[in-house]
Amino acid sequence: MEVYTMVSSYQNRLTTIKDQDKSIAFVPTMGALHSGHLELMKTARGKADLVVASIFVNPTQFNEESDLVNYPKPLDHDIHLLENNQVDILFLPTTTEVYPPGIDLSMQLNFGNLTTVMEGEHRPGHFEGVVMVVHRLLDIIQPDYLIMGQKDLQQMTIIQSMIQQLDLSVALVGHSIVREASGLARSSRNTRISDELRPTAPILYKTLQWASESKPRLSPEEITTTAMQRLKEAGFVPEYFTIADADSLMPIQHWRETDKPVACVAAWLGDVRLIDNMRLYEARVDA
Ligand code: PAF
Repeated sequence: MEVYTMVSSYQNRLTTIKDQDKSIAFVPTMGALHSGHLELMKTARGKADLVVASIFVNPTQFNEESDLVNYPKPLDHDIHLLENNQVDILFLPTTTEVYPPGIDLSMQLNFGNLTTVMEGEHRPGHFEGVVMVVHRLLDIIQPDYLIMGQKDLQQMTIIQSMIQQLDLSVALVGHSIVREASGLARSSRNTRISDELRPTAPILYKTLQWASESKPRLSPEEITTTAMQRLKEAGFVPEYFTIADADSLMPIQHWRETDKPVACVAAWLGDVRLIDNMRLYEARVDA
């Protein structure tokens, strides 16, 4: 695996990639890789000639300093995993490479409510940071495909909107949520859940499942209220449990044929913040 820490050295390499007319599938990460990321790498492998992954713990998307400080950074292990999972190139920049002094990263974008609901409401500034870094990374890496996980559904929707608004020539490919046998969605933050609270963690998924099963009998509001209660009783401190439309991300009040309801949740378990979601509609096979 080739490793580039500088933008200029990656871009020298990019010249040969483009000369050889090779396609690139790009998987941006913040490291602390788990099997969910490896599934993204596998999808990338099937899409393009070259797989480029990045590891960059982006400071601009952390709205809490303690989350940034506590974010796991097992770099040697990550590099080993990428090498063993057929990643061709790792981009491993420093903060100054991504954000050199004087660089103008301002963009005139309008995300409407996409950035103000759910994660946007509870993590002020988070999506501005995500949009900034993904745009910068796309500009550096120049991929044909961008591969992202659907656990961060809102992030994907916002990045898709950014791609459309800026008319970027990259195709966003979403990968379904990868779960542990218990149902808990794979996340880099899972390693921070204490042994004591570990058995509680899958209740997040079970509550989403309950919401899905309850759709024929209960209104979105009844599901939301009961789900919040269930999470609290189980020992979570939930921030939100929302049934939102997959495209607009706006909360759904009534079941309607035209909506694509997705149950989305964020909850604290001890000092670890977990998010998850589950589609409550049948996906069409034409996507
Ligand atoms: O999903 C993540 O890990 C991050 O938000 C991303 C897309 C790598 C940007 O830092």
